Amino acid sequence: MKTSNLMITGTGSYIPNHIVTNQDFATNKFFDERGTAFEASHSEIAEKFKAITGIEERRYVEDNLVASDIGALAARLAIEDAGIDPETLDQIIVAHNFGDVKANTIQTDVLPSLASRVKHALGIKNPACVASDVLFGCPGWIQGVIQAAAFMRAGMAKKCLVVATETLSRVVDKHDRDSMIFADGAGACVLELVDGEKQEGIIGMEMGTWAVDEVNYLFMGAGNTEDADPSVRYIKMHGRKIYEFALTKVPQAMKSCLDKAGVGIHDVSKILIHQANEKMDREIIKRLFRLYREREIPEGIMPMSIHKLGNSSVSTVPTLLDQIRRGTSEEKHELNKGDLILLASVGAGMNINAIAYRY
Ligand SMILES: CC(C)(COP(=O)(O)OP(=O)(O)OC[C@H]1O[C@@H](n2cnc3c(N)ncnc32)[C@H](O)[C@@H]1OP(=O)(O)O)[C@@H](O)C(=O)NCCC(=O)NCCS
Repeated sequence: MKTSNLMITGTGSYIPNHIVTNQDFATNKFFDERGTAFEASHSEIAEKFKAITGIEERRYVEDNLVASDIGALAARLAIEDAGIDPETLDQIIVAHNFGDVKANTIQTDVLPSLASRVKHALGIKNPACVASDVLFGCPGWIQGVIQAAAFMRAGMAKKCLVVATETLSRVVDKHDRDSMIFADGAGACVLELVDGEKQEGIIGMEMGTWAVDEVNYLFMGAGNTEDADPSVRYIKMHGRKIYEFALTKVPQAMKSCLDKAGVGIHDVSKILIHQANEKMDREIIKRLFRLYREREIPEGIMPMSIHKLGNSSVSTVPTLLDQIRRGTSEEKHELNKGDLILLASVGAGMNINAIAYRY
């Protein structure tokens, strides 16, 4: 049977060089949202932080780089990996949430769009290669892939570049303990419509937005110090609420994605989930298996990068995928032809999405 498949033909990522450990935050005094200093010592806070999130280190970009720069670096690697002529791309979709934010400023810059900047950096001249941005919280890159897939299924594109890039280090409140979660990084893939003999590539997609009580679980808010300038706003979150939301909604969305693909949990070889909190991700997987009345979770099914890379928002999933493909992931993981991978994410909006992909 001849089919037309949506295949990821190349991946790339950019992991910033600057390593920031939990201990490096010892110079920032932490306050709660009422401006009261925590009584615990920095070491106690850092230990607790590691225990509740799994994060030991994260990466920050160097001062001379902005999000579109690192997005272009990841994109170049994905294009090289796919072995395509960049002039033949129909779409460039760039997922991010804060645009380009220069070092030591906290001003978002999205004019022109990051996708146009990435296109410029790649030197692509073809005007029919259309560049647009996606704002969808942390699930932005998966959403970009879903949008590219929709253009392809509609016959409007054959080759798309989907980039994720974020420099959260530029928008965190250094006096908020939760700032330790966030990181910088970029990831990318080339998605192509490829004729095949059997169905592979993207075989299922799921997405949703919860914007009633959940809409402001992640928001922009004033700094935690008493003398913080209220006109300067940072990334803030109701972490516990997000945690509970993710645990109740993400497993169901993942199952629904697998149902749409016509596969079950035993068909899944790897689950690449947004790296927000290790404890939360492990609980989500446990609950996903429970939806299938399964208590045993196969070893190695969920690769993690959060210990050393933190949460780089949109970039966690494509970076993890790229690391596995290149053999540079924290633990050794392999993807073999025919494996079924489940990609999933949750974040600001509140948005959730998932893709079932036959490798
Ligand atoms: C923010 C988050 C790490 C807090 O963890 P939690 O287990 O929910 O924390 P709780 O508020 O229940 O507090 C538990 C303990 O951890 C402490 N704590 C909470 N946040 C902390 C932080 N950032 N650093 C250090 N300690 C922290 C609390 O003071 C409390 O300490 P105690 O046991 O001594 O009283 C967690 O809720 C989380 O990761 N949520 C999801 C956030 C997310 O995914 N954000 C990005 C979306 S893209």
